[in-house]
Amino acid sequence: MIRSIFSDYKIGNLTLDNRIVMAPMTRGFADDETGEVNYLVADYYGKRARYGAGLIITEGIAINETAKGTYGIPGIFTHCQTLSWQKVTKEVHQYKTKIFAQLWHVGRVSHQEFLNGHAPVAPSPIAASGKAHRLRKPFPRPRALTNTEIYHIIDDYRDAARNAMEAGFDGVEIHAAHGYLIDQFINEKTNQRQDEFGGSLQNRLHFLDLIIKEVKKVVPKNRISIRISEKKDDDTDYVWEYPEEMVCAITEILAKHQLKILHPSVENYEDTFQNDPRSLHALFRQYWDETLIAVGNIAPESGADIIEADQADLVAFGQLFISNPDLVIRLKANREIFPYQTKDRLPCLV
Ligand SMILES: Cc1cc2nc3c(=O)[nH]c(=O)nc-3n(C[C@H](O)[C@H](O)[C@H](O)COP(=O)(O)O)c2cc1C
Repeated sequence: MIRSIFSDYKIGNLTLDNRIVMAPMTRGFADDETGEVNYLVADYYGKRARYGAGLIITEGIAINETAKGTYGIPGIFTHCQTLSWQKVTKEVHQYKTKIFAQLWHVGRVSHQEFLNGHAPVAPSPIAASGKAHRLRKPFPRPRALTNTEIYHIIDDYRDAARNAMEAGFDGVEIHAAHGYLIDQFINEKTNQRQDEFGGSLQNRLHFLDLIIKEVKKVVPKNRISIRISEKKDDDTDYVWEYPEEMVCAITEILAKHQLKILHPSVENYEDTFQNDPRSLHALFRQYWDETLIAVGNIAPESGADIIEADQADLVAFGQLFISNPDLVIRLKANREIFPYQTKDRLPCLV
């Protein structure tokens, strides 16, 4: 049978109507005080569902009160926030689209002005370089988490995942990419701990390992996606010294937990590593037999080729879903697809 981007796709008991995924994109339209989302957010995701996205992965959602790194970030740790997401899942489920909540903690990539005066937290007290989003103030020195606090945050991931399922999401994506908290543990530059969470690569992956273990208690394993990247939003020169070792160590943990979905993140899908002639997706494809999501500035016409060539199982588009809410219809009908303009980010959701 020919693999097609428009054919349905099964991950255990989860059936997607097609292989097109809306990538997670922070938009900043939640109520900044309460972290709740409103009907405009429901309408925004609902529109992408109505026009046929197979799977939507939401913007990053804060798992606790120390997790956010800019204004307007939604949360999923209070009862009211959880209820507010029901509007979104209800709207999306009117169509055949599935929706995952992306669980996010930014760690040190934040500022006390976003955190009710509290310093951001991180594995080690090393400040990120650059300035806090929209606030334009330098990232402060974060406070190193105690061992007990780390276990509390792991529990927060589980509780947020439970709330996500209560809110009607079909699954969750754990954001372990882009230099945010989980990635700060994985990265040898930002993690200088001497305890079970620092030192060897296995120890640095221990935080992710324990989060998966907890989240699995409340979300079926075929409905948990893991997002991983080499690139860090706050350290653009960072590279993995040994990409293959990193990819093997990550896939080993995912396989141990019998997870089914991996969502590697790159800016450009075709880019290869500095230290390896393969791309991130190609390398994961070699070591990971389950569902792989392709993403990264993929041209509309290339999505079908990626699926047909069996390079990945699903194809995610980010910015093109902002500029074309009806992207799937346009792809099917071979109609014009509008490029994303930075102005599409603000000031309103469409
Ligand atoms: C406005 C914007 C917000 C984003 N927010 C997130 C996010 O919250 N979580 C995440 O994992 N990736 C985020 N990303 C990255 C996208 O998920 C995606 O990987 C990236 O845009 C590349 O895909 P594209 O070239 O098709 O847009 C964001 C990207 C954009 C443009």
